[in-house]
Amino acid sequence: MVGKVYIVGSGPGDPELLTLKAYRLLKEADVILYDRLVGEEITKLIQSLGKKAIYVGKDGKGKERQIEINNLMKKFAEEGKKVLRLKGGDPTIFGRLWEEIEFLKANRIPFEIVPGVSSVNGVPACANIPLTHPEFGKAIIVIGGREVEDYYEALRNSTLVVLMSGISASEISKNLIKNGFKDETKVAVIQKGSLKDQKVSVCTLRELSSSEKTFESPALMVVGEVVRFVEKYNCLEI
Ligand SMILES: C[S@@+](CC[C@H](N)C(=O)[O-])C[C@H]1O[C@@H](n2cnc3c(N)ncnc32)[C@H](O)[C@@H]1O
Repeated sequence: MVGKVYIVGSGPGDPELLTLKAYRLLKEADVILYDRLVGEEITKLIQSLGKKAIYVGKDGKGKERQIEINNLMKKFAEEGKKVLRLKGGDPTIFGRLWEEIEFLKANRIPFEIVPGVSSVNGVPACANIPLTHPEFGKAIIVIGGREVEDYYEALRNSTLVVLMSGISASEISKNLIKNGFKDETKVAVIQKGSLKDQKVSVCTLRELSSSEKTFESPALMVVGEVVRFVEKYNCLEI
């Protein structure tokens, strides 16, 4: 029987910032494929668990190394193993997540994404910096260093995550359209994310703006073309 691949975020480096789920999976995994950003302290923890761990950091060999990673995931999964693909921070943020799930999906290998504490919020927290503030920081923009020179292009292709939006999702959608967002822009509203009764609703800004729908708290909106992956990679379809 084919195994399963868990793509897991390791947090910003302090082993105590691993999630309980990540720690449980580290203990249960048959093999761990880990990136450079996972860092020395977590690597030591893995060694102390006596696990088979393979370093697969890119180290400038981007494409070539990705092929190796994909082949390793496939090989071990086909041997029926529980494979833990460990990435720094959170795998959804600048983690080339789509390449790996695209590959797993194409090869019909079951997978699960396990979020981690991202450096985006984890690192400022460790330096006592609140990222939002009613006066000084009403929103957060995260961009990759390589995109800085093309900042406006990066902004146009950005994903907007709107917190505290369950009750006002329709109103927010209207305002986004009024302020230049295309009305066909995809939006996902995620209620009770990660909990057993998580619900994901996908539609367009136009559809949401013309409905009276409200969502149970806690809920957030993800606005942007990346929402297409909800449909494409729905793990339950495997
Ligand atoms: C390719 S991105 C991956 C981000 C990762 N997926 C996350 O959610 O944190 C790598 C960048 O994250 C930032 N980063 C990750 N861990 C960090 C840490 N412990 N301290 C400072 N920056 C960190 C650095 O800017 C680093 O170049």
